[in-house]
Amino acid sequence: MRMKLISVVLAALVATLVAVPLHAQVEERPIPHLVKKDGRFALFVDDAPYLMLGAQVHNSSSWPVELPKVWPAMEFLHVNTVEMPIYWEQFEPKPGQFDYTMIDTLLSEARQHQVHLVLLWFATWKNGSQHYMPEWMKLDLVRYPHMLDRNGQAVDSPSPHSAASLEADKTAFTAFLRHLKETDPQRTVLMVQVENEAGAWGSVRDFSPAAQKLFEAPVPPELLAAMHVKTASATPSWQQAFGPDADEYFNAWSVAKYIGQVAAAGKAAYPLPLYANAALRDPIKPGAAGQPGVPGNYESGGPTDNVLAIWKVAAPALDILAPDDYQNDPAAYLKVLELYHREDNALFVPETGGPDKARFFFSALGLQTIGFAPFGLDYTHRAADRSTNQADDSRPQEEFLIPWAMNYKLIGPMQREIARLNFEGKLQAVAEEQGKATQTLPFGSWNAVVSFGAARNNRGAGNPKPTERALVAQLKDNQFLVTGYFCRVDFRPAGTEQQRKSQHIVEGSEQNPSALIDGKWQHRQFLRVEEGAYENGIFKPIRILNGDETDWGLDFGGEPVVLRVSVAIY
Ligand code: DGJ
Repeated sequence: MRMKLISVVLAALVATLVAVPLHAQVEERPIPHLVKKDGRFALFVDDAPYLMLGAQVHNSSSWPVELPKVWPAMEFLHVNTVEMPIYWEQFEPKPGQFDYTMIDTLLSEARQHQVHLVLLWFATWKNGSQHYMPEWMKLDLVRYPHMLDRNGQAVDSPSPHSAASLEADKTAFTAFLRHLKETDPQRTVLMVQVENEAGAWGSVRDFSPAAQKLFEAPVPPELLAAMHVKTASATPSWQQAFGPDADEYFNAWSVAKYIGQVAAAGKAAYPLPLYANAALRDPIKPGAAGQPGVPGNYESGGPTDNVLAIWKVAAPALDILAPDDYQNDPAAYLKVLELYHREDNALFVPETGGPDKARFFFSALGLQTIGFAPFGLDYTHRAADRSTNQADDSRPQEEFLIPWAMNYKLIGPMQREIARLNFEGKLQAVAEEQGKATQTLPFGSWNAVVSFGAARNNRGAGNPKPTERALVAQLKDNQFLVTGYFCRVDFRPAGTEQQRKSQHIVEGSEQNPSALIDGKWQHRQFLRVEEGAYENGIFKPIRILNGDETDWGLDFGGEPVVLRVSVAIY
């Protein structure tokens, strides 16, 4: 007995001696956090604005086999952040037994490859279902029930009214975050996604007796206040308060409340930024109220654009509600970005897809996105082309990666400057839109004019297949950082604030960008156009552009080119 005690004490002593120097070697960095200033958000990493140049991988269940295939693709893409799922079924194979192997592997591999991680908690919900719950939960349908539809039939979606499921999820999520706190002082993990595309496809809401009772009870007052609902009764039921939207709003509240509690429990262990992602409804033609939940329509209860206010009040521990933007119609794609860029919500696009969408990274930058991540761009899955959704072994994987890689190759070397300029409100960026040959970006006394499909002597006629993208940031009153692909950028005098308010300003021709202001022509001249690159936060010019290179405006092709442009009036 005594010998046993001595060996236990010795083992503890050795463990402490080993643990202390190991921890002492790692410098503890500040915890990543969201900052809001002057109406703009930034994700602060090492206490400065950070832009996640991300990509999401398909699968994380078989790391020794799959990981080696992930890293070359990530390097090709020039990402700085990789989104990887953590599966509840693997993490908690038996009740209360947590397996940290996967998390530890991901942390160590990400560090070796010098990227950050966003970890995705695939737990109670993944794409509206409970498929990632551990087996011991899936088999105990009484304790961990599915939702019931209107006819009392179980649907392929977990009930948000199960106290046991909630408790189990909270406990497991807390263990996960506590482990991150203990093992990640270098903050490899920047954020955690709580669940994945929560909501339900098979029913607009849960019709179980417990849910029905809540549905008939008064709406929580904090929700009435947030939604500015005024009814005859001070304590209206869901039906009275929300009419045809009642079922869907009730489900949104129920799902958000559940996830909000999971998030709050995890955050209490380790206050990383947390977010929930949404399978979207069509932002332009969403259909009639009360329709969601019908199979084939859209997921009911997730953070879709119409229930963001409900999620904000039900789940304050979530820092961000984020759209998975796969909209094929460009107008719908852009509308989604606008809808999630709110005064109370930082824009973050945790999933997107289809090579024709790559240019919208610039649109997201123009709305101060804190990050962007195409889905499934690793070599573990051949069907990387979401536009056809077909595996095509005859085509090299790079073909699917190139449009995305171009974005990050261009922005990567100056990512910190771009994040800072965006947080300071000095940056604007756009992607080409069908039927819009030019876009004007106002910067005080200058307008940056972006033309698409421009040739010598013309102002741009647009391209049959839009691929162009442009970014302009104001460095000083008359100095700009300009970059992009396949577009032309020029500058046109815009007058003083007073003149813009009181005068009718007439624009001059493309060849000589000018404007008639206050009865006098003002013409733009380039004082200096320098091509260069940022090194350690400082712009290092490599050559001067002039003559043919600037006489028609600043033309960008398919190579990453960054210009610092000084302009003046004559
Ligand atoms: C959206 C989900 O969030 C992802 O996990 C993945 O299932 C993709 N859809 C597949 O298209």
